[in-house]
Amino acid sequence: MKYGYFDHDNREYVIDRIDVPVSWTNYIGVKDMCGVFNHTAGGYLFYKSPEFHRITRFRPNGVPMDRPGHYVYVRDDETGEYWTLSWQPVGIDLKKAKYVCRHGLSYIKYQCEYSGIWGEQTLFIPLDDPVEVWNVALRNDSGRRRKLSVFAYVEFSFHHIQIDNQNFQMSLYASGSSYKDGIIELDLFYEENGFQFFTANNAADDAGGFDCLRDTFIGPYRTETNPIAVERGACTGSFELGGNHCGALRQCVELESGEEARLVFLLGEGNRQAGKKMREKYCANGFSAVDLSFKALGNFWKEKLDKLQISTPSAGMNAMINTWTLYQAEINVIFSRFASFIEVGGRTGLGYRDTSQDAMMVQHSNPEKSRSRLVELLKGLTTEGYGLHLFSPEWFEKRTEPSFKSPTVVPLPPKSQRVHGINDACADDALWLIPSIVEYIRETGDFGFADEKYAYADTFDPDTGEGEKETVYDHMKRILDFSARETGPHGICKGLRADWNDCLNLGGGESAMVSFLHHWALVHFCALGRRLGRDVAAYEKMAANIRETCERELWNGSWYTRGFTSSGRAIGSPDCKEGRVFMESNTWAVLSGAVSHEHGRAAMDAVDQFLYTPYGLKLCDPAYSEPDDEVGFVTRVYKGLKENAAIFSHPNPWAWAAEAVLGRGEQAMKFFDALCPYNQNDKIETRKAEPYMYCQFIAGPDHSAFGRAHHPFMTGSAGWSYFAATRFMLGIRPDFDNLIVDPCIPASWPSFTVRRVWRGAIYNITVENPQGVSKGVKECRLNGQSVICNDKGAQIPVQSVGSENLVTVVINT
Ligand code: NOJ
Repeated sequence: MKYGYFDHDNREYVIDRIDVPVSWTNYIGVKDMCGVFNHTAGGYLFYKSPEFHRITRFRPNGVPMDRPGHYVYVRDDETGEYWTLSWQPVGIDLKKAKYVCRHGLSYIKYQCEYSGIWGEQTLFIPLDDPVEVWNVALRNDSGRRRKLSVFAYVEFSFHHIQIDNQNFQMSLYASGSSYKDGIIELDLFYEENGFQFFTANNAADDAGGFDCLRDTFIGPYRTETNPIAVERGACTGSFELGGNHCGALRQCVELESGEEARLVFLLGEGNRQAGKKMREKYCANGFSAVDLSFKALGNFWKEKLDKLQISTPSAGMNAMINTWTLYQAEINVIFSRFASFIEVGGRTGLGYRDTSQDAMMVQHSNPEKSRSRLVELLKGLTTEGYGLHLFSPEWFEKRTEPSFKSPTVVPLPPKSQRVHGINDACADDALWLIPSIVEYIRETGDFGFADEKYAYADTFDPDTGEGEKETVYDHMKRILDFSARETGPHGICKGLRADWNDCLNLGGGESAMVSFLHHWALVHFCALGRRLGRDVAAYEKMAANIRETCERELWNGSWYTRGFTSSGRAIGSPDCKEGRVFMESNTWAVLSGAVSHEHGRAAMDAVDQFLYTPYGLKLCDPAYSEPDDEVGFVTRVYKGLKENAAIFSHPNPWAWAAEAVLGRGEQAMKFFDALCPYNQNDKIETRKAEPYMYCQFIAGPDHSAFGRAHHPFMTGSAGWSYFAATRFMLGIRPDFDNLIVDPCIPASWPSFTVRRVWRGAIYNITVENPQGVSKGVKECRLNGQSVICNDKGAQIPVQSVGSENLVTVVINT
């Protein structure tokens, strides 16, 4: 069953059957202000922090679902009938109305045809201003003159999520609203400069034109479905010092037959003065600033996406890589994980492992943000060499004291809570940072980054802004040394609080995944060290030791064991009744470069045999059915959900990449296709979730809802899908001095093309496959001249900034 389609030309996903079974969300904003909204305009807006600077409210896990939102009501003033431009909250009978939602890149269009009136509400945030623009268009298709009242409505938050949800003594009596000069101002009096504004192109001329009090606008015993003000056709001009506030503005519109009207509403950061400036900017000259900033937003995304465009025989891969997967990966980097309809902003900060991985995925399209994330992570590293599992970058910036102690001053936790000990450290967290840094240097050529100095988290004093500083290169050494130190009886890295798998809590037990990751990090580090002319002999020896230990201790004759509990029991091995085969140890055995080709093939065969489903690869098999605290929380999650044998999306691309390393293009594609959301567009009765986004997991075969996808958008799955598909399957990889082309594709693909921008030059790459093979670059021409090809692929030297280059690559036996 389908609810919509991909509009490739406009880069939109179009929902033309609006009664989708669950919320299909999208994000607006690309900098400091962000809105998370679903297909019926439910959702919320925040500035910088979804936890501490919430602008509008959202009632998570509520009924009716996804309320409140940013709504536009239209009322026919002759009949009194009213509806919303998004289907909800009024929820007009769909037999009488046509609703469409277009999810675009950082904008959403809600379109409606009802009662002879066509209407559209576009939500977006301009690149340079902290203001949400509502661009509303109406057209009278009814063939007669119409009198309409249009109401725009939002419910304001008290900024802090906690204050919004508990003990309202402070907030209820210390927040006020007022209306003047056509601008609603919310004043959070308990906060220094705590103001929001809501305004429109047409200032209301009477009390009927606005309400600032939520309960007055909605009315007692009513909801957003039937606000009394809309029903009546007029607001009452309410405002007050104290209470729950809203922004409600009415504009009256009279339309001749065929006539169109355009209305603009602005919801923003700052006080009435700021609102006035924004209105002057966006509502003058026929709304030209609205149009220009919408266009600039389009160019912003086009420029990013143009850095890498592909044309392959796979429609799913083309759609996901050319638009949706990069978009999802970028949103994860910009707004880091904790603002969605599932994670509703009550817990924020940077997850060390997630951010380290996220920052590796968009370095070609967002090098500045990737770099600043890397720096934040370097500052969140301890001298011991482990990263702070969840931290706020602000903790490691010089602190300025607020002038008064408002309840909404963001607290600086005491040092003991900012910097946790080893018992709370995850074994993998900081290891991800090393490849991320090295890939950043490969992408940008910013070799000087390795020698920049940053302070360690446990030495940092927020009052002075100083701490013990070392180079980025030294930070990496400390991370590698930590993992070398923290090993267990088999010589494998300890699992500690968790490794990548949050729910595998091995403590002093051992994790194969971490040892393999350690090796992968070493491979990256040594390559960088050699390129910089440093002595890396000690780390090469460390890597050799890991290879030997892993083959000796983890190869169980059939695949790679996942680890050992603290009492020495093997997990993920053939003797286990439950949790016999795991994805992480087998994919990472191959990706790490630590194991033989022969064992790698066998390990990936086991992945196919035991973990493959038509919706992607399960994380492990069989699922755990009994709590076992030596293994961890995974044994207390229901079978087929999350880490307990669900199709966990994030590690699926590891399998595509591992198969590409092994040279098995068919297998890589089979796994890619199974998980690909695009391929599930017509299976929404099963999938339920958005077909344009990867979700954290899909319920596995052990669960009654096998195939249902959960937790969309904010997941590292997108970044890894992008990385695995472009760098391993299509094989376009920057190195320190060359762009490498080394694809591994299905033998049936006759050719494919990639346009890649690298260090300011364009490479138009065509890969030809005349003999129907999967891998093996035999010939490469750069602008007609042949270039070196070796067993690592074609080695294309850096070309001059601004040049456009033609690259042809032939793969052959
Ligand atoms: C989601 C967490 O954000 C991520 O850090 C973790 O690796 C996966 N779950 C797997 O447990």
